[in-house]
Amino acid sequence: MQEMKSHYEDLIIKTEIAERLASLGTIAAGLAHEIKNPLVSIKTLAELLPERFEDPEFRTHFTNIAITEIDRIECIVSDLLDFAKSSEPRFEPLDLNRFLDSIILMLSSQLTKRRIIVLKRLPEDLPIIYADHSQIKQVLLNLFINSMEAMPDGGEITVEVIRDDGVPDDEKVIIRIKDTGYGIKDDDKIHLFKPFFTTKGSGTGLGLSICKRIIEKHNGEIEIESDYNNGTAVSFKLHVRKQ
Ligand SMILES: Nc1ncnc2c1ncn2[C@@H]1O[C@H](COP(=O)(O)OP(=O)(O)OP(=O)(O)O)[C@@H](O)[C@H]1O
Ligand SMILES: [Mg+2]
Repeated sequence: MQEMKSHYEDLIIKTEIAERLASLGTIAAGLAHEIKNPLVSIKTLAELLPERFEDPEFRTHFTNIAITEIDRIECIVSDLLDFAKSSEPRFEPLDLNRFLDSIILMLSSQLTKRRIIVLKRLPEDLPIIYADHSQIKQVLLNLFINSMEAMPDGGEITVEVIRDDGVPDDEKVIIRIKDTGYGIKDDDKIHLFKPFFTTKGSGTGLGLSICKRIIEKHNGEIEIESDYNNGTAVSFKLHVRKQ
């Protein structure tokens, strides 16, 4: 029995290593591609600089482009570091109602500016859950920001929490962020959780893969439903008690 168990554990470890290596490959390929583009534009301009140095318009152009592109690389690297950190969650009691309010408050000026209304639907008897505050905040911010970016002309975000007490002694909550944005094309749906998958000019494409990683570390699940041109709903399930 002991032998079988250790063989099984061995298998799990090997699978985990294989998965880590595979995602490391995807990350390295994506990172190389993402960083190469800004580097090429900086290099092209830098090569032209000696002969165009006296041209003030070129110098201004060079400075602007160089700073923007360097900012972009900095952003990619810092997102990647967050992704690589992958620290174990610190499970602490969390009051979802107040937590959601603080996140909505944090985004309020952006929401107003973008003419986005947030509706909150929570059950009255919502239990305190156990989760890592800063990690769940990161998940919610990523999801809110994706929804905001999907509604350039304004719209509605509905945040809903549903109790799921289907399994005795293992109550869960489902948190759902739904928007009325431009939605996701069917062809893109299988790529959403892949690191560096983005359809945005300025996105790094790490947001959803970070969310998935965090939710899985909480032994939860995350899924996305979307209707192209009509809106998107991202739901994640968390155990109320640490599992
Ligand atoms: N709410 C949403 N509505 C429409 N499309 C979405 C939504 N959320 C995610 N997507 C699609 O999934 C892609 C990946 O999302 P993800 O958050 O991982 O990266 P990103 O937003 O492009 O960049 P980053 O989050 O790193 O700034 C997006 O580029 C977009 O195409
Ligand atoms: Mg995003």
